[in-house]
Amino acid sequence: LKFTILLVLVTLVSRSLADEYVLNNKRFPSSFMFGVATSAYQIEGAWNEDGKTMSTWDNLTHVRPELIMDGRNADIACDSYHKYEEDVALMKEVGVNHYRLSLSWSRILPTGFPDQINEPGVNYYKNLFRALKANGIQPLVTIYHLELPLALQELNGVLNESFVDWYSDFAAVCFDLFGDDVKLWTTFNEPKQVCSGGYGYGYFFPYIKSEGLLEYQCTHNLLRAHAKAYRIYDEKFRARQGGKVAIVLDAYSYLPASESAADITAAETRMQFDLGWFANPIFNGDYPEIMKSRIATRSKGEGRAESRLPEFTEAEKIALNGSADFFGLNVYTAGLVAAIDDPPISNPPSKYQDMGVNDYQPSDWETTSLDWLKVTPWSMRHLLNWINDHYHQPDILITENGVCDNTGTLQDVQRVSYIQRYLSNIRDTMELDGINVIGYTVWSIIDNFEWAQGYTQKFGLHHVDFDSPNRTRTPKLSAQYYKNVCHTKCLLD
Ligand code: NOJ
Repeated sequence: LKFTILLVLVTLVSRSLADEYVLNNKRFPSSFMFGVATSAYQIEGAWNEDGKTMSTWDNLTHVRPELIMDGRNADIACDSYHKYEEDVALMKEVGVNHYRLSLSWSRILPTGFPDQINEPGVNYYKNLFRALKANGIQPLVTIYHLELPLALQELNGVLNESFVDWYSDFAAVCFDLFGDDVKLWTTFNEPKQVCSGGYGYGYFFPYIKSEGLLEYQCTHNLLRAHAKAYRIYDEKFRARQGGKVAIVLDAYSYLPASESAADITAAETRMQFDLGWFANPIFNGDYPEIMKSRIATRSKGEGRAESRLPEFTEAEKIALNGSADFFGLNVYTAGLVAAIDDPPISNPPSKYQDMGVNDYQPSDWETTSLDWLKVTPWSMRHLLNWINDHYHQPDILITENGVCDNTGTLQDVQRVSYIQRYLSNIRDTMELDGINVIGYTVWSIIDNFEWAQGYTQKFGLHHVDFDSPNRTRTPKLSAQYYKNVCHTKCLLD
């Protein structure tokens, strides 16, 4: 009996010590959401099945395969159109709370317009939501994730003023069809990649280089489309469906290169031209002051009658202001920013000249198989505080974070360490600074089609064999690690 009592005492003491350790150092709140993410084009395949028409990326990969690193396309991708139940089973096994996915516009509306709704395409998503529900996983749905019906691109896509209506009509169809099952919506994924990547620097579809011009017009349309969709939800769906609508913005954490006042100002300017460009209209009702003033001055110097940065009408500002119920944040990496002498006026304009700063990633930062993706978990505290300070302490949902490799290994130790360190810094920021981070999402549950990198870059917690007709999924070490995190809501060393 004495021995049993002793054993019970020892167990109790060690358990409370463990609790204390966990509580003080590693535990997330029980309401914290852990999830995984994908997007339609990157995983679904079935590119021309059941009434789906061509999207911009179907077309691009077919007509310009030389633009894709391995020359491949996503006609089949992970074949998730047929294997979605298997994907849900993987998520169940990992133990996630939510699954972030996107809808293929051309699968739901083959003409791009609501004149015709494609029932088999709708059923695919309904079945997916049913499977998620049966497994206790909440869907977080992105309406537009970097691809558009080709028919709309042929009408000038996001640059067409009518895009605002095309998009908000599509969003209304989605709310109507799926809003009973979906309570977490995001309108656009990474609009900066669409506009800056697609119409500014020109490194992403449709590969048009027009810095400081078309990229600003693109953003203007996307923001107005976002606001219109948000207000449609307010007016027609919110009372009945009770969901939340936001947008997913991607951000670098831009830190000053030194403690000099000039570098601190330069880093703030860089943040405003990067994240503020989208977030300020949505959370504060207009473009950042520094963007408005710098671009207006430079446009005048170029002899233009109007600023290259378009202006919102008062009604648009009102519609935009407060048009997000949480802050969706995709975050992977960071950069350092240094002040430079103000660049002379030049034509054509350049985005960096508009900003008037220099940024870089030092060569001693931890590298990955993608050049831009340096491992900088310590930068999370700065970024989360910056968002908190500029946008009225929003609930922040990390909608993507993750890392790639190009090896195909199942022993993905860098991914385990990456997730562990980012989560640790997120949790510290919550604890030390009281920042409201409500959830975290790993990109991605499975390896998939990484846009211009094709299948060469692997972001999955599960390996996918893209050479087997089965697209066999195999868990990596990181799936086991993340499973422990999801189940315990603690970080384990
Ligand atoms: C950003 C995008 O949303 C997603 O489509 C992409 O695959 C990942 N990040 C990784 O680059």
